[in-house]
Amino acid sequence: MRSRSTLVASHDREYRSFMTDRRLSALDRLIAQFDQALHTVLGPTPEAGRPSPETNQNDANLTVAERELAGRLMRVNHAGEICAQALYQGQAVTAKLPEVRGKMEQAAQEENDHLAWTEKRIRDLGTHPSYLNPLWYAGSFAIGALAGVLGDKWSLGFVAETEKQVVEHLNGHLQKLPSGDGKSRAILEQMREDEGRHATVAIESGAAELPRPVRQLMGCTSKIMTGTAYWL
Ligand SMILES: [Fe+2]
Ligand SMILES: [Fe+2]
Repeated sequence: MRSRSTLVASHDREYRSFMTDRRLSALDRLIAQFDQALHTVLGPTPEAGRPSPETNQNDANLTVAERELAGRLMRVNHAGEICAQALYQGQAVTAKLPEVRGKMEQAAQEENDHLAWTEKRIRDLGTHPSYLNPLWYAGSFAIGALAGVLGDKWSLGFVAETEKQVVEHLNGHLQKLPSGDGKSRAILEQMREDEGRHATVAIESGAAELPRPVRQLMGCTSKIMTGTAYWL
């Protein structure tokens, strides 16, 4: 019998080859997309391609209050990773990105690792994922799909700006984390490195700089998400 993680990996592989099959109708894609959305938000934890950076790190001396704080912060980061999945999946539906598809797929795989690592971490800290994850997913998917429609340079510009803002956000969380939570810290540090690389790849692939009001709107939207996911 196949393990749960093998099933998740094979589902993701099937989804990717399905969505790149040009013979499919719009309805086929829509149904596949809906299946993938349910899978991301409600399905089992995805299989990480890389081991979690938390291994060999210590969190043994955390107080109850520190565990609660770390759990809330990591819930925000997990919700952010749900958004990242939705953004990439939304863009994949509408964007052409013929030359950078391979690189974007690598970024999507790394986002998968982030989702798996943060999900395990929030469970280990004794808390739950954000109850509003379906909402974050739907909103981010729509934004990603819209960016994809506008053309590759804007689509890449959107990725670059998102990842830059995520790096800034992670810097803030690294300061707020309890100093004894080496496990969460190691995860966020690896994520920060990956997100920075995703921004660089997008810029090198021809990203356009987004207009200032759009950047500000993105910042406001993510503040609403991070502020709410901290509590819910
Ligand atoms: Fe990520
Ligand atoms: Fe990223």
